[in-house]
Amino acid sequence: MLLIYGAYGYTGELVARRAAAQGIDVMLGGRSAQAVAALAAELGRPHRAFGLEDPAALGAGLEGVSAVLNCAGPFSRTAAPLVDACLRARVPYLDITGEIAVLEACAARDQAARAAGIALVPGSGFDVVPSDCLAAHVAHRLPSATRLVLAFTAGTRMSRGTALTAIENAPGGGLVRRGGALRPVPSGWRTRRIDFGQGPRAAITVPWGDVATAYHTTGIPDIEVYVAVPLLVRAGLRLARGLGPLLASSAVRRRLEARVRRGPRGPSADERARRETRLWAEAANDAGRAVHARMRTPEAYELTSMTALDLAQRAARGELPPGFHTPARACGRDYILSFPGVSRDDVD
Ligand SMILES: NC(=O)c1ccc[n+]([C@@H]2O[C@H](COP(=O)([O-])OP(=O)(O)OC[C@H]3O[C@@H](n4cnc5c(N)ncnc54)[C@H](OP(=O)(O)O)[C@@H]3O)[C@@H](O)[C@H]2O)c1
Repeated sequence: MLLIYGAYGYTGELVARRAAAQGIDVMLGGRSAQAVAALAAELGRPHRAFGLEDPAALGAGLEGVSAVLNCAGPFSRTAAPLVDACLRARVPYLDITGEIAVLEACAARDQAARAAGIALVPGSGFDVVPSDCLAAHVAHRLPSATRLVLAFTAGTRMSRGTALTAIENAPGGGLVRRGGALRPVPSGWRTRRIDFGQGPRAAITVPWGDVATAYHTTGIPDIEVYVAVPLLVRAGLRLARGLGPLLASSAVRRRLEARVRRGPRGPSADERARRETRLWAEAANDAGRAVHARMRTPEAYELTSMTALDLAQRAARGELPPGFHTPARACGRDYILSFPGVSRDDVD
């Protein structure tokens, strides 16, 4: 049976409710016995409560489980112990991280996963399923590409957990890929005007998960990811460039985290239903040729619950081969088009 760990978090609960609505057999897991039992009772699903510190408790938590979908973030704290436990128990592991260090740590366990006969598929949510498929699509159209640019519009508000994860990772600044290696750059390093289908919008570089995964999917050595942001945010980011060391200070961080915890858990059901996300990709080669494509998807958290549940079910059914996989490598570049509300257009 598929285990959803972190099931009572904002995103975990969306996945658990989607599974229950579709009549899918899932087990709910998390570290708080009370919270996981309450949700399991409401949804009529079995549950297990265990933390990630004790390998013996983790081993017991994975007994009889056919795949784990980890929705408990920040994943810098939860992925390593769960991946280790999955390798020991020979249980496929998936998560919804967009954290570059976590994605690369999973890629580094490729051989171990092959030896254990299990699939490792981090990045099964909005970050990175649609952009990974779009990257694979433009790379397929231009096999000689040496540069890849991906971009998206946020189109929704951040959940509490996403904001806490962003605060945790903020001191790291920005990242791009150059010559196949990760290269640190300042936050909001470059600005570019990008037409997502409604006229050009200013977008800035962000250390999005695709800086890690698109390289594993396409082999393209130079990669940048942009997010469209309003002028005020761009100005704020430039001002905030010097804030990295400040955010690393635990007092400042604690204050920011407390403010986030007082806010809403995430977008309401109405916001999730009304909003959408747009993506754009460019692959270019050294001869000056470039191809472009755009994509529209449902709201990011809604899409995350669809793609993560679908990929985890595939893993639980034994359909994903052993080893580390990006979503497009696991299921193909057109995989994202199988979800309702997703469309893709070539724009050149
Ligand atoms: N890639 C994507 O597209 C995407 C989409 C959505 C979310 N996310 C990421 O998913 C994560 C969760 O987001 P969210 O909005 O669902 O957050 P949330 O509502 O704060 O939920 C986080 C969940 O993780 C659990 N958790 C946190 N640290 C843990 C630990 N050390 N051990 C065990 N459980 C732990 C929490 O349990 P307690 O309440 O007991 O602490 C809670 O159940 C964030 O990192 C977010 O960035 C990514």
